[in-house]
Amino acid sequence: MQVLVATDKPFAPVAVKGIKDVLDKAGYEMVLLEKYGDKSVFAKAAATADAIIIRSDVVDEQIFSAAPNLKIVVRAGAGYDNVDLEAATQHGVCVMNTPGQNSNAVAELAFGLMVYAVRNLYNGTSGTELKGKKLGIHAYGNVGRNVARIAKGFGMEVYAYDAYVPANVMKQEGVNPVATAEELYSTCDVVSLHIPATAETKNSINAALVGKMPKNGVLINTARKEVIDETSLLVLMETRTDLKYMTDVMPAADAKFTEKFPDRYFATPKKMGAQTAEANINAGIAAARQIVDFFENGNEKFRVNK
Ligand code: 3PG
Repeated sequence: MQVLVATDKPFAPVAVKGIKDVLDKAGYEMVLLEKYGDKSVFAKAAATADAIIIRSDVVDEQIFSAAPNLKIVVRAGAGYDNVDLEAATQHGVCVMNTPGQNSNAVAELAFGLMVYAVRNLYNGTSGTELKGKKLGIHAYGNVGRNVARIAKGFGMEVYAYDAYVPANVMKQEGVNPVATAEELYSTCDVVSLHIPATAETKNSINAALVGKMPKNGVLINTARKEVIDETSLLVLMETRTDLKYMTDVMPAADAKFTEKFPDRYFATPKKMGAQTAEANINAGIAAARQIVDFFENGNEKFRVNK
Protein backbone atom coordinates (compact mmCIF):
# COMPACT_ATOMS: atom_id res chain seq x y z
CA MET A 1 0.00 0.00 0.00
CA GLN A 2 1.24 3.46 -0.80
CA VAL A 3 0.17 6.31 1.50
CA LEU A 4 0.74 9.85 0.30
CA VAL A 5 1.07 12.48 3.02
CA ALA A 6 0.21 15.67 1.12
CA THR A 7 0.51 18.68 3.41
CA ASP A 8 1.10 22.10 1.93
CA LYS A 9 1.45 23.29 5.54
CA PRO A 10 3.76 20.57 6.93
CA PHE A 11 3.29 18.63 10.14
CA ALA A 12 6.03 18.92 12.77
CA PRO A 13 8.86 16.49 11.83
CA VAL A 14 8.18 14.45 14.98
CA ALA A 15 4.62 13.82 13.74
CA VAL A 16 5.85 12.78 10.29
CA LYS A 17 8.12 10.28 12.01
CA GLY A 18 5.17 8.97 14.05
CA ILE A 19 3.07 8.53 10.90
CA LYS A 20 5.93 6.72 9.17
CA ASP A 21 6.40 4.38 12.13
CA VAL A 22 2.71 3.33 12.03
CA LEU A 23 2.85 2.77 8.27
CA ASP A 24 6.22 0.97 8.39
CA LYS A 25 4.86 -1.42 10.99
CA ALA A 26 1.96 -2.28 8.68
CA GLY A 27 4.37 -2.79 5.77
CA TYR A 28 3.00 0.27 3.93
CA GLU A 29 5.08 2.79 1.99
CA MET A 30 4.88 6.49 2.94
CA VAL A 31 5.43 9.18 0.32
CA LEU A 32 5.86 12.69 1.75
CA LEU A 33 4.82 15.75 -0.25
CA GLU A 34 5.16 19.02 1.66
CA LYS A 35 4.84 22.68 0.60
CA TYR A 36 3.84 21.58 -2.90
CA GLY A 37 2.25 24.93 -3.74
CA ASP A 38 0.42 24.09 -6.96
CA LYS A 39 -2.38 21.49 -6.89
CA SER A 40 -1.10 19.94 -10.13
CA VAL A 41 2.00 18.81 -8.18
CA PHE A 42 -0.29 17.15 -5.63
CA ALA A 43 -2.33 15.53 -8.44
CA LYS A 44 0.83 14.08 -9.99
CA ALA A 45 1.95 12.63 -6.65
CA ALA A 46 -1.52 11.12 -6.11
CA ALA A 47 -1.23 8.99 -9.27
CA THR A 48 0.08 5.91 -7.45
CA ALA A 49 -1.45 6.47 -4.00
CA ASP A 50 -3.82 3.95 -2.36
CA ALA A 51 -4.44 6.35 0.52
CA ILE A 52 -3.86 10.06 1.20
CA ILE A 53 -3.41 11.98 4.44
CA ILE A 54 -4.14 15.71 4.20
CA ARG A 55 -4.71 18.77 6.39
CA SER A 56 -6.53 21.77 4.83
CA ASP A 57 -5.32 20.61 1.41
CA VAL A 58 -8.04 20.69 -1.23
CA VAL A 59 -9.06 17.28 -2.56
CA ASP A 60 -11.51 17.53 -5.43
CA GLU A 61 -12.26 16.02 -8.83
CA GLN A 62 -8.80 17.01 -10.10
CA ILE A 63 -7.16 14.84 -7.44
CA PHE A 64 -9.66 11.96 -7.55
CA SER A 65 -9.45 11.60 -11.32
CA ALA A 66 -5.63 11.64 -11.11
CA ALA A 67 -5.58 8.86 -8.49
CA PRO A 68 -7.00 5.61 -9.94
CA ASN A 69 -5.83 3.44 -7.00
CA LEU A 70 -7.17 5.74 -4.29
CA LYS A 71 -9.47 4.11 -1.71
CA ILE A 72 -9.29 6.45 1.28
CA VAL A 73 -8.51 10.08 2.15
CA VAL A 74 -8.05 11.01 5.80
CA ARG A 75 -8.18 14.64 6.79
CA ALA A 76 -5.84 14.79 9.81
CA GLY A 77 -8.02 17.25 11.67
CA ALA A 78 -11.65 18.19 12.21
CA GLY A 79 -13.07 20.26 9.34
CA TYR A 80 -13.45 18.50 5.98
CA ASP A 81 -14.93 21.36 3.96
CA ASN A 82 -11.76 21.13 1.81
CA VAL A 83 -12.80 17.71 0.45
CA ASP A 84 -15.42 17.30 -2.28
CA LEU A 85 -17.41 14.50 -0.64
CA GLU A 86 -19.69 13.90 -3.63
CA ALA A 87 -16.74 13.49 -5.97
CA ALA A 88 -15.15 11.11 -3.44
CA THR A 89 -18.28 8.96 -3.32
CA GLN A 90 -18.51 8.92 -7.12
CA HIS A 91 -14.93 7.67 -7.27
CA GLY A 92 -15.61 5.05 -4.57
CA VAL A 93 -13.25 6.76 -2.10
CA CYS A 94 -13.88 6.73 1.65
CA VAL A 95 -13.25 10.10 3.39
CA MET A 96 -12.55 10.32 7.12
CA ASN A 97 -11.51 12.97 9.62
CA THR A 98 -9.82 12.56 13.01
CA PRO A 99 -12.26 14.32 15.36
CA GLY A 100 -10.93 15.70 18.63
CA GLN A 101 -7.26 15.08 17.93
CA ASN A 102 -6.23 18.71 17.48
CA SER A 103 -8.97 20.40 19.50
CA ASN A 104 -6.91 21.37 22.57
CA ALA A 105 -4.40 23.19 20.35
CA VAL A 106 -7.16 25.21 18.69
CA ALA A 107 -8.77 25.99 22.06
CA GLU A 108 -5.48 27.24 23.51
CA LEU A 109 -4.98 29.55 20.53
CA ALA A 110 -8.49 30.97 21.04
CA PHE A 111 -7.29 32.14 24.48
CA GLY A 112 -4.08 33.51 22.99
CA LEU A 113 -6.21 35.66 20.73
CA MET A 114 -8.56 36.61 23.59
CA VAL A 115 -5.76 37.86 25.84
CA TYR A 116 -4.21 39.72 22.90
CA ALA A 117 -7.55 41.44 22.27
CA VAL A 118 -8.38 42.50 25.82
CA ARG A 119 -4.79 43.75 26.38
CA ASN A 120 -5.20 46.06 23.38
CA LEU A 121 -2.85 44.14 21.09
CA TYR A 122 -0.03 44.71 23.60
CA ASN A 123 0.17 48.39 22.66
CA GLY A 124 1.10 49.56 26.15
CA THR A 125 -2.31 50.93 27.13
CA SER A 126 -4.42 49.63 29.98
CA GLY A 127 -6.65 46.75 28.94
CA THR A 128 -9.09 44.48 30.74
CA GLU A 129 -9.04 40.97 32.22
CA LEU A 130 -10.93 37.86 31.19
CA LYS A 131 -11.78 36.95 34.80
CA GLY A 132 -15.45 37.56 35.53
CA LYS A 133 -16.30 38.19 31.86
CA LYS A 134 -18.95 36.22 29.99
CA LEU A 135 -17.64 33.90 27.30
CA GLY A 136 -19.96 32.62 24.57
CA ILE A 137 -18.98 29.41 22.82
CA HIS A 138 -20.65 29.17 19.43
CA ALA A 139 -20.91 25.41 18.81
CA TYR A 140 -20.14 23.00 21.60
CA GLY A 141 -18.09 20.31 19.87
CA ASN A 142 -14.60 19.05 20.67
CA VAL A 143 -12.97 22.49 20.44
CA GLY A 144 -15.87 24.22 22.21
CA ARG A 145 -15.59 21.80 25.14
CA ASN A 146 -11.86 22.46 25.51
CA VAL A 147 -12.51 26.20 25.37
CA ALA A 148 -15.06 25.79 28.19
CA ARG A 149 -12.55 23.82 30.30
CA ILE A 150 -9.83 26.47 29.92
CA ALA A 151 -12.27 29.36 30.43
CA LYS A 152 -13.08 28.08 33.91
CA GLY A 153 -9.40 28.40 34.82
CA PHE A 154 -9.53 32.04 33.72
CA GLY A 155 -12.55 32.53 36.00
CA MET A 156 -14.93 33.33 33.13
CA GLU A 157 -18.69 32.69 33.12
CA VAL A 158 -19.25 30.25 30.29
CA TYR A 159 -22.25 30.14 27.93
CA ALA A 160 -22.73 28.03 24.82
CA TYR A 161 -25.10 27.71 21.90
CA ASP A 162 -25.32 24.50 19.90
CA ALA A 163 -28.58 23.36 18.31
CA TYR A 164 -27.32 19.76 18.26
CA VAL A 165 -26.10 19.38 21.86
CA PRO A 166 -28.68 18.83 24.63
CA ALA A 167 -28.79 21.54 27.31
CA ASN A 168 -28.22 19.03 30.13
CA VAL A 169 -24.87 17.93 28.59
CA MET A 170 -23.65 21.55 28.81
CA LYS A 171 -25.07 22.01 32.32
CA GLN A 172 -23.25 18.88 33.55
CA GLU A 173 -20.02 20.48 32.35
CA GLY A 174 -20.72 23.76 34.16
CA VAL A 175 -21.71 25.62 30.99
CA ASN A 176 -24.86 27.76 30.68
CA PRO A 177 -26.81 26.69 27.60
CA VAL A 178 -28.63 29.39 25.62
CA ALA A 179 -31.48 28.75 23.20
CA THR A 180 -30.43 30.90 20.25
CA ALA A 181 -27.32 32.36 18.66
CA GLU A 182 -28.85 35.82 19.18
CA GLU A 183 -29.04 35.21 22.93
CA LEU A 184 -25.40 34.09 23.00
CA TYR A 185 -24.17 37.26 21.27
CA SER A 186 -26.34 39.64 23.30
CA THR A 187 -25.20 37.99 26.56
CA CYS A 188 -21.47 37.55 26.09
CA ASP A 189 -18.48 39.90 26.24
CA VAL A 190 -16.39 37.50 24.17
CA VAL A 191 -17.72 35.05 21.56
CA SER A 192 -15.52 32.24 20.29
CA LEU A 193 -16.57 30.58 17.02
CA HIS A 194 -16.36 26.82 16.61
CA ILE A 195 -18.85 26.13 13.84
CA PRO A 196 -17.91 24.18 10.71
CA ALA A 197 -18.17 25.76 7.25
CA THR A 198 -21.31 24.30 5.70
CA ALA A 199 -23.96 25.60 3.28
CA GLU A 200 -25.99 26.51 6.37
CA THR A 201 -23.24 28.36 8.28
CA LYS A 202 -21.51 30.23 5.43
CA ASN A 203 -21.85 34.03 5.90
CA SER A 204 -24.03 33.37 8.97
CA ILE A 205 -21.94 35.50 11.35
CA ASN A 206 -23.12 38.90 10.25
CA ALA A 207 -23.62 42.44 11.54
CA ALA A 208 -27.13 41.64 12.84
CA LEU A 209 -25.67 38.98 15.13
CA VAL A 210 -22.31 40.51 16.12
CA GLY A 211 -24.00 43.89 16.56
CA LYS A 212 -25.91 42.42 19.50
CA MET A 213 -22.71 42.10 21.54
CA PRO A 214 -22.32 44.35 24.57
CA LYS A 215 -19.90 47.29 24.59
CA ASN A 216 -16.26 46.25 24.05
CA GLY A 217 -17.32 42.89 22.61
CA VAL A 218 -14.62 40.62 21.19
CA LEU A 219 -15.21 38.10 18.39
CA ILE A 220 -12.70 35.27 18.13
CA ASN A 221 -12.61 33.10 15.01
CA THR A 222 -10.53 29.93 15.01
CA ALA A 223 -13.11 28.19 12.80
CA ARG A 224 -13.35 29.12 9.10
CA LYS A 225 -13.29 32.44 7.26
CA GLU A 226 -16.30 31.42 5.17
CA VAL A 227 -18.65 31.59 8.17
CA ILE A 228 -18.12 35.36 8.47
CA ASP A 229 -20.12 37.83 6.40
CA GLU A 230 -17.04 40.02 5.94
CA THR A 231 -18.80 42.88 4.16
CA SER A 232 -21.34 43.36 6.92
CA LEU A 233 -18.70 42.96 9.68
CA LEU A 234 -16.60 45.70 8.05
CA VAL A 235 -19.60 48.05 8.03
CA LEU A 236 -20.52 47.16 11.63
CA MET A 237 -17.01 47.79 12.96
CA GLU A 238 -17.05 51.27 11.40
CA THR A 239 -19.98 52.29 13.60
CA ARG A 240 -19.29 50.03 16.59
CA THR A 241 -15.83 51.42 17.29
CA ASP A 242 -15.67 49.36 20.51
CA LEU A 243 -15.74 45.92 18.83
CA LYS A 244 -12.66 43.78 18.18
CA TYR A 245 -12.20 40.92 15.73
CA MET A 246 -9.35 38.42 16.17
CA THR A 247 -9.06 35.61 13.68
CA ASP A 248 -6.86 32.62 12.96
CA VAL A 249 -8.25 32.44 9.45
CA MET A 250 -7.32 35.45 7.38
CA PRO A 251 -10.37 37.05 5.77
CA ALA A 252 -10.45 37.70 2.03
CA ALA A 253 -10.79 41.38 3.01
CA ASP A 254 -7.73 41.28 5.32
CA ALA A 255 -6.21 44.42 3.78
CA LYS A 256 -9.39 46.41 4.42
CA PHE A 257 -9.72 45.20 8.03
CA THR A 258 -6.05 46.01 8.69
CA GLU A 259 -6.31 49.46 7.16
CA LYS A 260 -9.56 50.45 8.89
CA PHE A 261 -9.09 48.84 12.32
CA PRO A 262 -5.39 48.51 13.12
CA ASP A 263 -6.09 48.58 16.88
CA ARG A 264 -9.10 46.25 16.85
CA TYR A 265 -8.30 43.58 14.30
CA PHE A 266 -5.70 40.84 14.06
CA ALA A 267 -5.32 37.86 11.72
CA THR A 268 -2.63 35.19 11.82
CA PRO A 269 -0.75 35.12 8.50
CA LYS A 270 -1.19 31.32 8.35
CA LYS A 271 -3.78 29.21 10.13
CA MET A 272 -2.04 28.36 13.42
CA GLY A 273 -4.77 26.73 15.55
CA ALA A 274 -3.66 23.13 15.02
CA GLN A 275 -0.02 24.00 14.46
CA THR A 276 1.52 22.36 17.52
CA ALA A 277 3.72 19.26 17.76
CA GLU A 278 1.11 17.62 19.99
CA ALA A 279 -1.82 18.27 17.64
CA ASN A 280 0.22 17.16 14.62
CA ILE A 281 1.25 13.96 16.39
CA ASN A 282 -2.28 13.21 17.59
CA ALA A 283 -4.04 13.92 14.29
CA GLY A 284 -1.29 12.54 12.01
CA ILE A 285 -0.88 9.26 13.87
CA ALA A 286 -4.67 8.84 14.21
CA ALA A 287 -4.94 9.31 10.42
CA ALA A 288 -2.25 6.69 9.76
CA ARG A 289 -3.90 4.22 12.18
CA GLN A 290 -7.32 4.78 10.62
CA ILE A 291 -5.87 3.99 7.19
CA VAL A 292 -4.28 0.76 8.40
CA ASP A 293 -7.50 -0.23 10.21
CA PHE A 294 -9.51 0.54 7.06
CA PHE A 295 -7.39 -1.68 4.82
CA GLU A 296 -6.77 -4.46 7.34
CA ASN A 297 -10.18 -4.63 9.08
CA GLY A 298 -12.59 -2.61 6.93
CA ASN A 299 -13.12 -0.15 9.82
CA GLU A 300 -15.00 2.94 8.57
CA LYS A 301 -15.89 4.42 11.97
CA PHE A 302 -14.81 7.97 11.11
CA ARG A 303 -16.20 7.99 7.56
CA VAL A 304 -17.84 11.33 6.67
CA ASN A 305 -19.09 10.68 3.12
CA LYS A 306 -21.90 8.34 2.04
C1 3PG B 1 -9.15 21.54 11.54
O1 3PG B 1 -10.21 21.64 10.91
O2 3PG B 1 -8.76 20.46 11.99
C2 3PG B 1 -8.34 22.77 11.84
O3 3PG B 1 -8.89 23.88 11.21
C3 3PG B 1 -6.86 22.62 11.52
O4 3PG B 1 -6.54 22.74 10.16
P1 3PG B 1 -5.03 22.54 9.65
O5 3PG B 1 -4.69 21.09 9.79
O6 3PG B 1 -5.03 22.96 8.22
O7 3PG B 1 -4.12 23.38 10.48
